[in-house]
Amino acid sequence: MDRKTVVITGSARGLGYEMAKCFRRKNFNVVISDVIKKDIDNAKKKLLEEKGNGEVLGIVCDITKSNDIIKLIDETKNSFKTIDYWINNAGVNQPDKLIWKLTDEEISRMIDVDLKGTIIASKYIMEVMEKQGYGNIYTVEGHGSNDAVIPGLSIYGTAKRGVTYFINALAKECEINKLDIIVGALSPGIMITDFIVNAFRDKKIELSNKNKKVYNILGDYPDVVAKYLVNKMLSNTNNNVRIKWLTNRKAALRFMTSPFKKRNFFK
Ligand SMILES: NC(=O)c1ccc[n+]([C@@H]2O[C@H](COP(=O)([O-])OP(=O)(O)OC[C@H]3O[C@@H](n4cnc5c(N)ncnc54)[C@H](O)[C@@H]3O)[C@@H](O)[C@H]2O)c1
Repeated sequence: MDRKTVVITGSARGLGYEMAKCFRRKNFNVVISDVIKKDIDNAKKKLLEEKGNGEVLGIVCDITKSNDIIKLIDETKNSFKTIDYWINNAGVNQPDKLIWKLTDEEISRMIDVDLKGTIIASKYIMEVMEKQGYGNIYTVEGHGSNDAVIPGLSIYGTAKRGVTYFINALAKECEINKLDIIVGALSPGIMITDFIVNAFRDKKIELSNKNKKVYNILGDYPDVVAKYLVNKMLSNTNNNVRIKWLTNRKAALRFMTSPFKKRNFFK
């Protein structure tokens, strides 16, 4: 049987990299893509040292650039027969600032990566999957997806709220056009990755003690979350699904047991 292929945006590190690792363990060909070539090369080298038989391709793709997305798709198609799974994972966090303290450039950056990049990437991969006759497109949600408001995270939240609307809309368009394409959302909860301390590469986020406390209770390393999400994606057969790691029940349980289960990610 031919090996399946997954493409994951923003996969040189964090959740994207960990999902790539899980897919490869499941015998997939894996395409790592991100903005910096050196990071991709390192990720590819690390991935090849892990368990798994699938091929690993590393392709530079800044999802704010349509040409990069087209190149990512074309190069993947040239190497592998099909693109079975596409995961919109790339994202940037918000510098911890109120809306009117952000620069125009910071606002544009979040909307361009977190919302517009996801939409444009989905548009191009939909063209491929429609022709192919099937496929799976999953997109990572985030704070704001459920309408919650946290001051200092408002533009990121606005973008992710838009992402959630977009996932529903794309799933609906696939359904009414009777396409055999599954569109779904991945809700990873809170993860201990570079993302929580760096908004963009050059914008550090200072975590308050209160925030650290919440991360210690609700947070998880991305490998734990990735394993759950990938297993769920591979067993899912329903369109417009939401795969959620940190359910309300799990969160409540974490708070209830936190006095007895001390965790510290920030030692
Ligand atoms: N860490 C969390 O607590 C958390 C919580 C909820 C949702 N998320 C979401 O999960 C996803 C992965 O986050 P993570 O925690 O692994 O973060 P991360 O910062 O470790 O990884 C994100 C990756 O995206 C890449 N990226 C940034 N801009 C890009 C662009 N224009 N084009 C392509 N790649 C780009 C980065 O270089 C990085 O490798 C993001 O969509 C994020 O919004 C994270």
